[in-house]
Amino acid sequence: MAGLFISFEGIDGVGKSTQADLLETWLQSQGKTVVRTLEPGGTEVGIEIRKILLHHRGDLTPRAEAALFAADRAHHVASKIRPALERGEVVITDRYFDSSVAYQGAGRELSQTEVRDLSLWAVGGLLPDLTVLLDLPADVARNRRNGSGTEPDRLESEKIEFFERARQAYLDLAKAEPNRFLVIDAAASVDVMQEQIVNRVTGLI
Ligand code: TMP
Repeated sequence: MAGLFISFEGIDGVGKSTQADLLETWLQSQGKTVVRTLEPGGTEVGIEIRKILLHHRGDLTPRAEAALFAADRAHHVASKIRPALERGEVVITDRYFDSSVAYQGAGRELSQTEVRDLSLWAVGGLLPDLTVLLDLPADVARNRRNGSGTEPDRLESEKIEFFERARQAYLDLAKAEPNRFLVIDAAASVDVMQEQIVNRVTGLI
């Protein structure tokens, strides 16, 4: 596939969307066409699925949750991401399947291997060329998010241990695939983080 596929990952509150915005602007300044998207909710049907995942009030069992994230991802890849990559464009997504491995696999304590396999089946095996992992301890990320003043959604309301498991899973994933991952210490300034990301992306375009 001719395009470039970049995902941003990390637990809630680490600053993914700020860095994704900055990278989008930088890539555009280099003359690239960028499709900026997110999971869950990167498509029309995905917006409906996102409402259930983030705002459903009653019970939603872990496997049903994992399956809904996978359904969102399957449609997102088939209808938006693959076509853009085939046109030779750059796709930047705020979250992709590593989020499911970290949150449903480790956070919900389902099998990480099974959750990964489910997601990869859903997307026909499409892996990002680069995954930028913004890393912060769970308590620091939570304090930052609380400072944003928005009401926590269904997942953000989980206990700190959930996010500690998710953070550790992300670090393990990065260790297992050092070529795909760029791990950034999200305690650094916005500018320092951006420079590290741009340096890595420069080698890919
Ligand atoms: P966000 O768009 O604000 O990051 O919200 C998405 C939430 O959903 C966030 O708490 C992470 C969570 N999530 C999962 O649990 N599994 C997934 O596969 C994805 C994409 C997100």
